Amino acid sequence: MYALPILKPHRAPRVDPRSARVSLTDLCDLACIYCRPHKRDGYLERRLGLEAWRSMLRGLFEAGVRRLRVTGGEPLLHPQVVAFVRAVREIPFEDVALTTNATRLEALAAPLRDAGLMRLNVSVDTLDPARFFRMTRGGRLAAVLRGVDAATRAGFDELKLNVVVVRGENDHELEDLVRFAWDRGMIPRFLEVMPIGEGQNLRDRVVPYGEMRARIAHLLEEAPPVKDPDRGPAKYTPARADGPDAGKRVGFITGTSDTFCGGCDRLRVASDGHLRPCLATNDGLSARHEAEHEDSAAVAERVHEAWKQKPDGDTWKGCTEATARDVSIRKIGG
Ligand code: 5AD
Repeated sequence: MYALPILKPHRAPRVDPRSARVSLTDLCDLACIYCRPHKRDGYLERRLGLEAWRSMLRGLFEAGVRRLRVTGGEPLLHPQVVAFVRAVREIPFEDVALTTNATRLEALAAPLRDAGLMRLNVSVDTLDPARFFRMTRGGRLAAVLRGVDAATRAGFDELKLNVVVVRGENDHELEDLVRFAWDRGMIPRFLEVMPIGEGQNLRDRVVPYGEMRARIAHLLEEAPPVKDPDRGPAKYTPARADGPDAGKRVGFITGTSDTFCGGCDRLRVASDGHLRPCLATNDGLSARHEAEHEDSAAVAERVHEAWKQKPDGDTWKGCTEATARDVSIRKIGG
């Protein structure tokens, strides 16, 4: 008898979780009009401690995750955010980034860079202090701008400026925001409001991609925008090649007019250890127990279990599905 070759089981032709967004805390010091109703909406009761996070991070890596983004809530409110980034960098993730509202970035930009953070996204929707105060329900723009300055000095590999565009609020500021970002070596990105959580109340104030683009068309090449490989759903258009800004670019995230679920390789981890295979549903399962028992192999098993619940990206319409309305984007960090 000849030994039969061992055939590998046929894998379903779907992507593995290669990237994870980790919500370090669901606390936030702002209440942006498209995100949460007020500053006192419900918080999670139990969050992972740093040791449990280490096991969670190792488990994610063992399950195949190679790119990690730290989000919140607002991750810089976590007292151990710098130690957390250091813990992330003890594992050979290929890409480690963080998204922040920058209210505390002035003091933390350099320590985060020193801890090994590679890339940073800053959310700033307007350059007008009164409008900023209104859109964030009480935020102070001056502190945020000092945070942006500190980030530009810290020397990150890449700095992006995220702008959620709301009709009648900041939709006339697009060119100013592009120039603000370009002047600081940042990549500006404009997001359609997604009808998730509070965003559903702004459905009649979405500025669709075509309109955003038309407002800054004179700054850009005419070619259609293209995705960066392995970098999420944003699409980028270069600045005019014959102008002073040649080489720079602008990104668009079109979660409402184009739902981009095909090829999504992203898993979300909430601050209580809940694993979520999709932003637009509350499906998923918890790996808190496994993380708290410092069992990274068991965490990886839970990741595989959670991933089985991922909707089929060819038919699923992401943030426009009805289930998205019940999602708290503040708890999961977008
Ligand atoms: N639609 C689009 N973007 C949103 N964000 C939060 N809520 C929404 C929404 N409803 C963005 C934040 C931040 C990122 C994490 O998600 O502004 O840039």
